[in-house]
Amino acid sequence: MTLTDPRSDPRTGEHVIERVVFSEADLANRIGEIGREIAAAAPADEEILLIGMLKGSFLFLADLARAIPRPVKLDFMVAASYHAGTVSSGEVTLKYRPDTSLEGRFVVIVEDIIDSGTTLKRLLPVFEAQKPAHLEVCALLHKRLVALDPPARWVGFDAPPGFLVGYGLDFAEQFRNLPYVGVLQSDAG
Ligand code: IMP
Ligand code: MG
Repeated sequence: MTLTDPRSDPRTGEHVIERVVFSEADLANRIGEIGREIAAAAPADEEILLIGMLKGSFLFLADLARAIPRPVKLDFMVAASYHAGTVSSGEVTLKYRPDTSLEGRFVVIVEDIIDSGTTLKRLLPVFEAQKPAHLEVCALLHKRLVALDPPARWVGFDAPPGFLVGYGLDFAEQFRNLPYVGVLQSDAG
């Protein structure tokens, strides 16, 4: 263990990832499947527009975009609902909304994880108002604590209880660069 190991807590240098939940290979296989499904689901005359919810979806979005064997356009949405801890504040702050038109497009909102569902419940009506031909949600992980209406059309994996980090997911901005999804030790932070 060294201080440069991305699994370590930068304050103490201690390894704080309890276990790997989804490995790099698990992620790559599942994202390949989802990419092919999205390509097949979008009507041929509709452009696919992926909207990544930053920051957590940045790696998922990058891999998913490359797994879709069709042209895609990309934009981003920046919303914050977690501030520093592991519990949602319940508020959703919009910091950037896409300036690409959604109208007539096959729009896929790309989320890292659905936890309380607050972020999507707040944002889906904002997207719907822009009259996409289709509006779908693709989440890498779903904690299955809430049922969204409509449900997320694509979910990579059901998430186990606990606070997950890695592959875009952070704890206080740390661990986003882990290549896998792991569970944080419950006494960390
Ligand atoms: P919501 O509670 O469904 O609104 O989740 C909003 C955001 O909280 C997600 O997009 C993540 O960025 C973050 N989040 C929720 N659960 C976790 C977790 O277990 N680890 C890291 N981030 C999380
Ligand atoms: Mg986050």
